[in-house]
Amino acid sequence: MQPTLFTHLTLATMVPSSTPYGLTPDAAIAVRDGRIAWCGIAQNMPDEYATWARADMGGRLVTPALLDCHTHVVHGGDRSLEFSQRLEGKSYEEIARSGGGILSTLTATRNESEATLLASALPRVDQLIAEGVAVIEVKSGYGLDRDTEIKMLRVARQIGGARPVQIRTSFLGAHAVPPEWKDRSDAYIDEVCIPTLRAAHAEGLVDAVDGFCEGIAFSPEQIRRVFDAAHALGLPVKLHAEQLSNLGGACLAAEFGALSADHLEYLDENGVRAMAAAGTVAVILPGAFYTLHETSAPPVELFRKHGVPMAIATDCNPGSSPTSSLLLTMNMACTLFRLTPEEALAGATRHAAQALGLADCGMVAKGMRADFAVWDIKHPRELAYRIGFNPLFKRIFGGSGWN
Ligand code: NIG
Ligand code: FE
Repeated sequence: MQPTLFTHLTLATMVPSSTPYGLTPDAAIAVRDGRIAWCGIAQNMPDEYATWARADMGGRLVTPALLDCHTHVVHGGDRSLEFSQRLEGKSYEEIARSGGGILSTLTATRNESEATLLASALPRVDQLIAEGVAVIEVKSGYGLDRDTEIKMLRVARQIGGARPVQIRTSFLGAHAVPPEWKDRSDAYIDEVCIPTLRAAHAEGLVDAVDGFCEGIAFSPEQIRRVFDAAHALGLPVKLHAEQLSNLGGACLAAEFGALSADHLEYLDENGVRAMAAAGTVAVILPGAFYTLHETSAPPVELFRKHGVPMAIATDCNPGSSPTSSLLLTMNMACTLFRLTPEEALAGATRHAAQALGLADCGMVAKGMRADFAVWDIKHPRELAYRIGFNPLFKRIFGGSGWN
């Protein structure tokens, strides 16, 4: 692609600065080889870019492309029955303990082929892309046996070939105890989860290692063994922690220098301090909070107080968060958790990139990937303001997609 100068735009760089959103009116962005060569106020542009081919953005607002840093988009089946059951008063935990929940998705996922799983994931991916998402994290965790976990991760990688989007995979073998290992969860971790992690890593399928630390899933001691194995392979970790109760998962994650701890509805200040010291991002998932009728909100005020970056993600999954709208999720983060619209956008850009360990996404700045979103709005706070409305005009991915 020839070098391109994007002109006639207002830029929200999302680079931390004294200007909210890094807002730059009358801006231009010079893109070469899929990267940002220069951006700033058009008047200050160095002469060398003046002769480049131009793309006129019509005065629209440009932000970094969004990143969805926590999803389970690859899965079989659906859980609409469970949705009805919850409305009749059954809790997520009760449904899980009676063999529904994650385990019902497990059966469906084991029974589907790679092609079928890919075909059902793509519409979810397409909705995210249509909202300006350029990076999607995809977890395994609905196989819980060697073949199906690897199948899920292969499908995740295939998404990156089927669509113009960057995929980051997380191995989530410690998501639930599969029925054939019931009451033998320690053996499951040692004999299935960890060996499968090693096999998946050997195939180049794993970018990070995740777990679910909870009464209905795994203890901190069991997660520690998985994290030890991850570190021995040189892989970063993240953790579903403090979603339904406080088992000290976030402290454990922080001890391993985790990229993120996710959910965190039951986190206390001690855990927040540990995350701050470790530089662990708090990934908050309002879709799950909303769907599960949760009443305990993550400690947003404490994250602010201790300087823990907050990311926002859809948690797109068939049970606790059946949404593939990151814009709606941003709105929920504001209304349910009182994030500011600027925090919500940082949560779906800069901080989401940090939660994935990506240093070249999530901001519009020199040297970063040329992934940005062009919106038909006047001010970036409008992204979190509307409910179920998508103002995307164009998504630029690696410098392409504007014409
Ligand atoms: O992030 N909390 C655990 N895992 C998923 C839910 C998976 C499911 O219910 O299928 C989550 O919410
Ligand atoms: Fe999740």
